[in-house]
Amino acid sequence: MSAFIVLGAQWGDEGKGKVTDYLAKNSDIVVRFQGGSNAGHTVEVGDNQYKLHLVPSGILYKNKINIIGNGVVLDPKALFEEINYLKKLHVDISPEKLVVSDRAQIVMPYHKVLDGIKERSRGKKDIGTTGKGIGPCYTDKMERSGIRVCDLIKEGVFKEKLQENLKVKNDIITKVYGENPLDFDSIYDEYVNYGKALLPYVKDTSVVIYKNIKNNRKVLFEGAQGTLLDVDYGTYPYVTSSSTIAGGVCTGSGIGPTMIKGAVGVAKAYTTRVGKGPFPTELFDKTGNWIRERGHEYGVTTGRARRCGWLDLVILKTSSRLSGLTSFAITKIDTLAGLEKVKICTGYKIDGKIIDHIPASLNDLARCKPVYEEFRGWDKSIENARTYDELPENAKKYLSRIEEFTDTKISIVSVGPGRDQTIEINHI
Ligand code: GDP
Ligand code: IMO
Ligand code: MG
Repeated sequence: MSAFIVLGAQWGDEGKGKVTDYLAKNSDIVVRFQGGSNAGHTVEVGDNQYKLHLVPSGILYKNKINIIGNGVVLDPKALFEEINYLKKLHVDISPEKLVVSDRAQIVMPYHKVLDGIKERSRGKKDIGTTGKGIGPCYTDKMERSGIRVCDLIKEGVFKEKLQENLKVKNDIITKVYGENPLDFDSIYDEYVNYGKALLPYVKDTSVVIYKNIKNNRKVLFEGAQGTLLDVDYGTYPYVTSSSTIAGGVCTGSGIGPTMIKGAVGVAKAYTTRVGKGPFPTELFDKTGNWIRERGHEYGVTTGRARRCGWLDLVILKTSSRLSGLTSFAITKIDTLAGLEKVKICTGYKIDGKIIDHIPASLNDLARCKPVYEEFRGWDKSIENARTYDELPENAKKYLSRIEEFTDTKISIVSVGPGRDQTIEINHI
């Protein structure tokens, strides 16, 4: 019995796509369990780069099953665009390789419109969402009015649900926000066709996952976003609308916690964040810009420049606790090569005390001043290292400190975007 989780330990974009693709070689099934097309996961194999949003990162292998679980908010328009993009890159996609949960919620055009309207109405307090309709779609799920995949594929049910929903949404769009209503016929015609196209891919994915685990097949869960974007434990309200931590796997895929064997938290060797919200170790100086340019820190989904800062071990320790991480995968250690000195945050100073946890109140977090330890950098380019021994001594010291402070082993060190630029230390 083997189910294993890959999740983001920071604010997203840690390299989950790369690590999932790497670990998928020894897995049979890869499952997305939360989030939607707000995710942008990059996988590089040889000279080819693939940008994935909804399709799990196991899709590049010929014989793996990829599942979009019930906890995902599925934008069918985005899914079919992604399938076409992947087909153009000669990636084979068929209902044997890609399976969609009948219980996943559908992102509708009004969700995207409302995402934009709500952001504008927040003014300076905007969250900086990806604009993909994620928050409004999860709102409908919890409010119990959402349209699910099982509804979309049944014309009569879909028509009725769309009528009910669109009436309410158009009232809000026009009467509360004074904007133009959406047209029923054009949405219906477009989405009913997505339903027909989706039908061959649809199954009860909880059953599929359960049977495969029982048959000793290996299942890998691919998280989207990251721990500090979690709706409960992230920097609320500057978060996404789903459970990004390990707890989200069970509800988002329909399996029990006793089936999960381990969880690897993916973390960059520094910290980045897109969108608004607190970020204690953010750098506003030339080092921050240097990291951004050297690390190509621009979003996969929105193209926005990512905010950059030093590695924050308070965050990694929190992530390890919240998800019961069995190890970390540290990525982009190559990006820092060339800096004379590197810093790691090991605590926050607030009201004369040093704490090693993240306060719930954003006002308190804003008052936290990072406490740093300084390390000597490594000037040797390390992107060609393939074993731990080949890493520069100073990089090893840096990595050891991460393990020591977080009380969590490092199982993978990534030294470049390519599938082969991966050092596996402790076999997972
Ligand atoms: P994800 O959302 O967690 O999958 O991460 P993204 O794909 O949004 O961002 C990570 C970026 O870093 C991508 O461009 C990856 O190709 C790249 N990447 C991943 N691991 C490494 C690494 O170890 N070194 C370098 N230089 N790039 C990496
Ligand atoms: P991956 O899976 C980084 C951020 C947005 C915004 C907040 C809420 O590639 O790591 P949303 O559209 O979800 O309502 O936006 O969350 N965000 C991400 N940041 N990586 C992501 O995904 C993200 N998905 C959402 O920038 O701050
Ligand atoms: Mg990303």
